[in-house]
Amino acid sequence: MGYRARLRVWRGDADSGELRDYEVDAEEGEVVLDLLHRLQATQCPDLAVRWNCKAGKCGSCSAEVNGRPRLTCMTRLSLFDTDETITVTPMRAFPVIKDLVCDVSYNYVKAREVPAFSPPEGLEPGEYRMQQRDVERSQEFRKCIECFLCQDTCHVIRDHSENKEAFSGPRFLMRVAELEMHPLDSHAEKGGDRPEEARGDHGLGLCNITKCCTEVCPEHIKITDNALIPLKERLADQRYDPLTMLFRRKRS
Ligand code: SF4
Ligand code: F3S
Ligand code: FES
Repeated sequence: MGYRARLRVWRGDADSGELRDYEVDAEEGEVVLDLLHRLQATQCPDLAVRWNCKAGKCGSCSAEVNGRPRLTCMTRLSLFDTDETITVTPMRAFPVIKDLVCDVSYNYVKAREVPAFSPPEGLEPGEYRMQQRDVERSQEFRKCIECFLCQDTCHVIRDHSENKEAFSGPRFLMRVAELEMHPLDSHAEKGGDRPEEARGDHGLGLCNITKCCTEVCPEHIKITDNALIPLKERLADQRYDPLTMLFRRKRS
């Protein structure tokens, strides 16, 4: 049955803005993005809202709903009482361009700073052989849709934009972890050191394992347990385990 939903939306640009209240027709089974689209179609044609797939797969419609980072296309209205005001604000960790649209270019800068997968010399694509458990480990991380909700929620940059230069955030530390655990990655043989790069170039030490990133991930990737903690363990082994240190010294 239809009803009038109460919506409070942040409207503004990089210089200033405010929360504005609206009432919008809502239908059973709809999601927050449906309300935003109806608001745009009937009352606010200039409302800026980013979206693409409406199926939880493109990562474009990220925003904060009642203060929680969420995909608006996957946030059902049934989560809220029909007389409850639903507040939608842009992701707080990134600069606003207009209304709900943020400048997420920080993430692309950080993505470029992670050295790419480096296959062993002489091995052509199609000749790669890996154990199934290694394939599955990579596949979990590769479910990432780059919605940047984990980046938005991580307190290291959410409340301290001055940390952005030193900290790449959970999404890109997870990328480093994925490559470090890849059995065919030969970055180390070519002189690289992914755990050390995670520490020095990507700020791994600033992560204090609060797990907020894991809680908001719409793909349910265990970012902290399966990527960040193993990366920290590998770094600790490298730096403080006497046997590993000896082995590394012999190799170099
Ligand atoms: Fe989004 Fe999860 Fe990828 Fe982070 S790890 S960008 S929350 S899909
Ligand atoms: Fe941030 Fe996730 Fe670490 S929220 S502090 S990157 S566990
Ligand atoms: Fe694609 Fe929401 S519109 S994830």
